[in-house]
Amino acid sequence: MKAVIPVAGLGTRLRPHTFTVPKPLLHVAGKPIIAHIIDNISSLSIEEIILVYGENGESVVDFVREYWKGTVKGVLQRELMGLGHAVYQTKDLINEKDRLLVILGDTIIEGESIKSSSLDRDFIAVKEVDDPRRFGVVELDEEGYIRGVEEKPDRPKSNLAIVGLYYFTSTGLLFEGLSYIMERDIKTKGEYQLTDALAYMLERGWRPLAVRIEGWYDCGKPETLLETNRILLGKTGSKYEIPGSLIVPPVFIEKDVEIKNSIIGPYVSIASGAMISNSIVTDSIINREAIVENISMTSSILGQKAQVKGGLRRFNVGDFSKVELG
Ligand code: UTP
Repeated sequence: MKAVIPVAGLGTRLRPHTFTVPKPLLHVAGKPIIAHIIDNISSLSIEEIILVYGENGESVVDFVREYWKGTVKGVLQRELMGLGHAVYQTKDLINEKDRLLVILGDTIIEGESIKSSSLDRDFIAVKEVDDPRRFGVVELDEEGYIRGVEEKPDRPKSNLAIVGLYYFTSTGLLFEGLSYIMERDIKTKGEYQLTDALAYMLERGWRPLAVRIEGWYDCGKPETLLETNRILLGKTGSKYEIPGSLIVPPVFIEKDVEIKNSIIGPYVSIASGAMISNSIVTDSIINREAIVENISMTSSILGQKAQVKGGLRRFNVGDFSKVELG
């Protein structure tokens, strides 16, 4: 089986971090997002991973080549014209008879959820959400097969959102659908959407299952990256003891991190080379070689070599006064 992972997006919602690091290489719960994705699909007998990368995104391909032992290929998407366009770029690397998994580069789907899905039928992974209007949405027939798909509909026909994992037992009709939307310039919200190619396939008799996924963690914006960090640390975070500091689990602390006189955790992920002193840090991601000094910090993301330094405040406060610092 081959896996296509589109990672070319600009990741604008995660700026400033994505100005210097492509989104898939941002750290969450101790390793880059793309490393979580690959670990989760590793039990699925995948022989080849094809990454669709954008300008400045070649480092993602380099990382995956180091991290994963199977064949890794990269295809450049010169112009970012949507997910359908991204997948279309792989057409020369995929044969009609190949089984194919398409998984987004900013969505972590738990291995258990994927393993439980049967690989002898085409499927689209979905999850019930409160407000499906921000997602691709599927409509099911009485037997649980998908009969319709729509991208970010104003009036969704169900609350089942497409989570970003698609499985095809062969790829002829998929690439036919992608060519169709590209040749006729069919765009939704200004982009060539994979969902529109899937709609073409459904009209021609394609009958995929909707597989409900439990563990689905979005990494597309700061709040969801921190939330994913909390959830994954809750499952995998370790206990640490550092003399002179209090470490409240779950946390992940890479090697070569210096922590002095601080309270760390819960839900903190710290990459190697970081230095933290005289500080309280909760619910945060601290990237490589960042420095944190004399500060109380929560719900924060610090990039590589970023520095945040506070200081002690001086007060001269009389009897019955009240000082409240936000
Ligand atoms: P998003 O729609 O989340 O876009 O793409 P994005 O650029 O990554 O993030 P924002 O919206 O600017 O913050 C979902 C997935 O599809 C890939 C992205 O890399 C991401 O993994 N994608 C999207 C492409 O590879 N090419 C595209 O043209 C569009």
